[in-house]
Amino acid sequence: MAAENLKWWQKTIVYQIYPKSFADTTGSGTGDLNGITKHLDYLKNLGVGAIWLTPIYPSPMVDNGYDISDYMGIDPSYGTMADFEKLIAESDKRNIKIVMDLVYNHSSDKNSWFLESKSSKNNPKADWYIWRDGKPDGSAPTNWRSIFGGSAWTYCEERKQFYLHTFAPAQPDLNWENPEVRQALFDAANFWLDKGVGGFRIDAITYIKKPSEFKDGKPDGKDGMSGIHNLTANTAGILDFLHEFKQKVFIGHDIFTVGEANGVAPEDLNKWVGKDGVFDMVFEFSHMNLPLKNGEIWCRPTEWKLSELKKVLSDSQAATKNNGWCPVFFENHDQPRSVNHFFDKNADKIKAAKAMATILLTLRGTPFIYEGQELGCTNVAWNSIEQYNDISSHGQYDFAIKEGFTKEQAMEFVHFFSRDNARTPMQWNDSKNAGFSTGTPWLFVNENYKTVNAENEEKNPDSVLSWYKKLSKFRSENLELTAGDYKLLLPDDEKIFAFSRSLEKNSLITVVNFSTEPAELPKEFSNKKILIDSESQPEKNLLKPLEARILRN
Ligand code: NOJ
Repeated sequence: MAAENLKWWQKTIVYQIYPKSFADTTGSGTGDLNGITKHLDYLKNLGVGAIWLTPIYPSPMVDNGYDISDYMGIDPSYGTMADFEKLIAESDKRNIKIVMDLVYNHSSDKNSWFLESKSSKNNPKADWYIWRDGKPDGSAPTNWRSIFGGSAWTYCEERKQFYLHTFAPAQPDLNWENPEVRQALFDAANFWLDKGVGGFRIDAITYIKKPSEFKDGKPDGKDGMSGIHNLTANTAGILDFLHEFKQKVFIGHDIFTVGEANGVAPEDLNKWVGKDGVFDMVFEFSHMNLPLKNGEIWCRPTEWKLSELKKVLSDSQAATKNNGWCPVFFENHDQPRSVNHFFDKNADKIKAAKAMATILLTLRGTPFIYEGQELGCTNVAWNSIEQYNDISSHGQYDFAIKEGFTKEQAMEFVHFFSRDNARTPMQWNDSKNAGFSTGTPWLFVNENYKTVNAENEEKNPDSVLSWYKKLSKFRSENLELTAGDYKLLLPDDEKIFAFSRSLEKNSLITVVNFSTEPAELPKEFSNKKILIDSESQPEKNLLKPLEARILRN
């Protein structure tokens, strides 16, 4: 791709903030907008050009903001609209854009739209959500299991009908077939554009189109239900809604859009992010889902090999090579920490974090860093399910117990997959609560904050944070890494992940040993110049465990 045609968001790094856990300036125990403003220079120094905020709108917080009760406000726990405007203004000064999260598949059940919709069968918003009569025996309209566990239908006494929720009962699905619903959602997005936001991440967007007929799916658990994802994600016709969204909201603005597209296969990517696609980028999840190849059920994890990780990443790189662009990401607020997710459990976490960073910042696409990833943050493992806040951890735990696992086994799944792994408070320094809050944090701090924290790592040239900064600078100085073509090398090697990025006559090669054993480097790599290495004394023909290297071809 010609370097001069790249847009600003293709040349930058995006940082994802989970506002509840980032920085608390009031002592409430919950992060807030002023906490983000306070740390903008930290992000600037990392080379960040845009910040994606997970939802900050008024919400009962059943799913920490992914249940919105007012699409045009700020939740008081995060501050005020004036705080938001200040955040935009201060970010602008540093050339950083603020990206909002649009949760448009569903609202909160406390949203006035839903309260009206559920009040009767003939109110003006009666058709704004997805209502159905039960089966003749009074049971739910279908056997669909929601993503958080339990039936995807909840009965409403007032209407004597069921409503559909892909996620929790407190998150009723909006009816996108109704043009008034679409217009209300588009109006809200335009409201935030008027405030000066630099883009949108669009939540759970592959679920907005429902099948024309609602039929039972094949049971896939002892509960007799069938996971909703396989039955409703990416239903034909969805792109019509999204083209309308693009025309009425996105077009003509210097912003980027990134859809959460679980269920879109690499071969379909062009329709989503190609020249005539609907978004600028989508999150494609094949690599994140490797341990869950059998669906989203945590108690059925699957083994995977490095060659598979390389293949799925390369498939999406190939699918967008000449037409389209994607984010590169290995963490977000729904996923385990990448050092636990992608490496042997005994791997040295600092080395693993550097290895992951090297892939993240040299693949083709816009790198998304999730808060704390740049410090090498790790998973937690609390003793009992009651200590977990994440709604899906509870659903998955209950499901595992029903499937016949012991409590200890069910907790092991939670320890690995829980979304709370990524939601623990940001580790700023080694003072009380990791410097996140002077009050009682809403979620336990990871105990390793005494050593894994920003202040410590800023002082240490060998820290994960210093490695991120070094790579971020290197990326901004080497156009091959933004505009260059991607080619996978050594596809079948089960230890080394290697690829090249080439632009005209220039080529860089990334080589990372993903294993906890040394790995011999084939001859063709040993005569190249080492530009960057995670080890202080690299050997030409050998990679130490988890060593990461960038070579000049
Ligand atoms: C995906 C979000 O990333 C996740 O946190 C949320 O629970 C679901 N969508 C439902 O909105």
